Amino acid sequence: MTNKARAHWGSKLGFVLAAAGSAIGLGNIWRFPFVTQQNGGGIFVLIYILFVAIIGFPVMLGELTIGRHTQKNPVGAYKSLAKGWVWLGYLCVAGGIGILSYYGVVAGWTVGYLVKSMTGDLDPQGFGKFLANAPLQIGYLVLFIGITGAVVAAGVQKGIERMSEVLLPLLFVLMIGLIIRAFTLPNAMEGLKFYLMPDFSKISASTFLAATGQAFFSLSLGMGAMITYGSYLDKKDNLVTSAIAVVSADTLIAILAGLLIFPVIGHGLGKGGPSLVFVTMIEQFSQMQGGQIVAILFFLLLAIAALTSTVSLMEVGVAYLVDEHGLSRPKAVGILMVPLLALGIPAALSLGAVDSLSNIVGGKGFLDIMDFVFGNLGLTIGALFMCIFLVYRWGIWKAAKEVLSGSPGFGKYVWVWKLLLGYVVPAFIVSLLVYNLYQTFAG
Ligand code: PHE
Repeated sequence: MTNKARAHWGSKLGFVLAAAGSAIGLGNIWRFPFVTQQNGGGIFVLIYILFVAIIGFPVMLGELTIGRHTQKNPVGAYKSLAKGWVWLGYLCVAGGIGILSYYGVVAGWTVGYLVKSMTGDLDPQGFGKFLANAPLQIGYLVLFIGITGAVVAAGVQKGIERMSEVLLPLLFVLMIGLIIRAFTLPNAMEGLKFYLMPDFSKISASTFLAATGQAFFSLSLGMGAMITYGSYLDKKDNLVTSAIAVVSADTLIAILAGLLIFPVIGHGLGKGGPSLVFVTMIEQFSQMQGGQIVAILFFLLLAIAALTSTVSLMEVGVAYLVDEHGLSRPKAVGILMVPLLALGIPAALSLGAVDSLSNIVGGKGFLDIMDFVFGNLGLTIGALFMCIFLVYRWGIWKAAKEVLSGSPGFGKYVWVWKLLLGYVVPAFIVSLLVYNLYQTFAG
């Protein structure tokens, strides 16, 4: 291990923007609206907000605390706190690589569609053809991972923080501008009603489970991204207010994304999944006045949101290689490209370009399987063991002592944190896992 002075964020705002950038991504703008659509609209939004507060927030605080305390990447962090738990750190690094490999494919589509909207080549029927085009799929993946690598290689302050300080405010402005345009569309009222009026009859077990899964994915929890970003924090920083700021920003953007998407598509129009953004939205853009400009801004918004997330996914592996193996950042990025492309290229080809990859089991292709294994199972298992580790191995009071440095008022709430991390969150995660496995094998 090397002992060079460790990188730190330049300011607390810089950290909040970077961590919010990690959290705010395709999960908010693309996944949240269609998960809401599939789970009863407004009622799902309410349950989601509740779950973010009782599940997302305590886990976020837990990860930031482990990172800030150890000042290390997830492998180094678990190794230094309890040798027998180092495997959990490796799981985090593997999770980052696994998620980035296929997330980068979808992120690449946003750039592909940005280019299409600029050249006036948007066609709702063109999505299938685009997915089946192997050179384009690989090209945009490599481009996106390459840009991500360039930002990460430039460093914590000069790369990640600087990028977030520019892109996050821009993302917010784009979002507000697009919402204003969306509200003036003919479908707006119908869409908003579906989105915001809770229909209590739509609640079922799967609503709660979908909310838990969405919260982890959207908040970037369960794979050490927040351990890593927390490791660049200072002892005097307030972890509680930092976690509140990141969680609130992420939730705000998810809710705003619904205010953008639903007025455009109206009530439940079109299919969910990838086609919500790449087909249904495009159908609408093609019919609206100024649709081309709206499309350009919309795909720019998506690409920006995706980039600040892919950067955090890559940073987990880079921090590991830098801390534990003493590599330079550019070298670490270069090494990570190997597994990223080895997994990313099959994912890119698995939506029509190569038949054998597109239908592996039960109609699911390589990308779907990667999402299930890493985005779904991996994050939930990662978060479950993080909670167990923090409460039952490291000890809630040792963790609380770390939080108290910078947030002296936290002492009164330690019991709530313990209750949530030690009982409530594990109980929810175990139900989520059991339900998911049941669905996969029985459904
Ligand atoms: N939170 C990101 C999103 O919503 C995805 C992500 C998951 C990023 C896990 C990092 C870690 O798109």
